[in-house]
Amino acid sequence: MTPPRFAVVILAAGQGTRMRSDRHKVLHPIAGKPMLVHLLDTVESIGAARSVVVVGKGREQIEAAVSGRAVDTAVQDEQLGTAHAVSMAKAALAGFDGPVVILYGDTPFVRGETIATMLERLAAGDSPGVVVLAFTPADAKSYGRVILEPGSDRIAAMVEYKDATPDQRAVGLCNSGMMAAHARDLWRWLDAVGNDNAAGEYYLPDVVAVARGEGRHPVAIEAAEAETAGVNSRAELAELERDWQARRRREVMDSGVTLVDPDSVWFSADTVVGRDCMIEPHVFFGPGVSVGERTVIRGFSHLEGTTVGDGCEVGPFARLRPGAVMERGSKVGNFVEMKKAVLGEGAKANHLTYLGDATIGAKANIGAGTITCNYDGFFKYRTVIGAGAFIGSNSALVAPVTIGEGAIVGAGSVVTGDVPGDALGIARSDQRNIGGWAADFRAEQKAKKDQA
Ligand code: UD1
Ligand code: MG
Repeated sequence: MTPPRFAVVILAAGQGTRMRSDRHKVLHPIAGKPMLVHLLDTVESIGAARSVVVVGKGREQIEAAVSGRAVDTAVQDEQLGTAHAVSMAKAALAGFDGPVVILYGDTPFVRGETIATMLERLAAGDSPGVVVLAFTPADAKSYGRVILEPGSDRIAAMVEYKDATPDQRAVGLCNSGMMAAHARDLWRWLDAVGNDNAAGEYYLPDVVAVARGEGRHPVAIEAAEAETAGVNSRAELAELERDWQARRRREVMDSGVTLVDPDSVWFSADTVVGRDCMIEPHVFFGPGVSVGERTVIRGFSHLEGTTVGDGCEVGPFARLRPGAVMERGSKVGNFVEMKKAVLGEGAKANHLTYLGDATIGAKANIGAGTITCNYDGFFKYRTVIGAGAFIGSNSALVAPVTIGEGAIVGAGSVVTGDVPGDALGIARSDQRNIGGWAADFRAEQKAKKDQA
């Protein structure tokens, strides 16, 4: 179903005091992506025409985070309540004549399908005027309550906990805060909301009573608690992260990937893992990772900003940093770090190696302890290793440097100049053996110790 073009108002003017952070609350990341961006991606995916974020402090932070997107910000200088906050978005939506969905920036996981259902219900023949997204939490705490007309989805009353009678507090159906109404109704109804209540605030839920006063019949639809869960503290941030990871692990497994110990694998929102991959315990995917098919990622590997091809092997204990590219069938083993480096098809770097600012040709073999010395404290330089080259163990390749195709670098070399294709490059002092020296040394030392 394609919902009608709609606008979104995202409330984010609250202080977020309990986060104790200089970062705006809605910009704290979950799965490597700011909460606000999760929401914006969801509403864009179902066709939101416009989005307005209502901000108190920290407007610049929000603007920086959404730059390049069709998102406006509106400022609410004083937090006079949720209805007042929504009305701050009116100017930014001037000329918009369609349904408006109100969301909370700190409640990032409402599903697109749920928003589409709200819009569908708003457009239904009985013209409800307002659709409220409700939920029935395990613990109703101090949420606002939604009182329905018996046997119907029509709302008889919305009541804030502070203003509720004991009977009303006993109702399990709660207001998520999310709501949909048509722009032309919403602005008029908001103007009619007063602040004569326990908190002295302009309550958004009061638009329900105003709509009823005009003969409309606002309705509630119910969502799962996971969709309405919000973040007020770091502990709640961690809870939402945990729930997100649990959902994603399930999706990844359903798509044909083996997670040996799902609970210890962490994904980012944009992680892509192909079919028949196998991921061992304790693997972390930071943002920007794409893995092909049939690749094995062994335990304790950390990947970010990395592209791994089909049939590769990674780790255990590999660190793939931004710009690392592993082409088909290549291998990176334990304690290998790659950054801005391409490892060609079938190439191997199996042990204790740093490959930075480097291009490594197909089937090259990078010996244990190889280091690309890419930085002189001021500038970065590239290392190019040709196809089929063999770099002996414990070599330092001082960039800029090129090792030709099929060349061999002798173990322990400090390579400061290019090595031609098929040549042996060896850069270490010649070996000298002194017959009997070790035995003589031991005898001398032992004699000294016996005398002491
Ligand atoms: C609100 C609802 C309550 C609902 C609950 C769900 C009202 C009056 N009450 O209560 O029915 O059960 O959410 O979590 O709407 N905000 C602003 N400007 C303001 C006030 C709030 O932008 O002046 C933003 C906050 O940043 C937050 C959201 O609106 O994202 C909700 O505000 P909050 O103060 O948390 O409302 P609750 O008291 O929890
Ligand atoms: Mg709240």
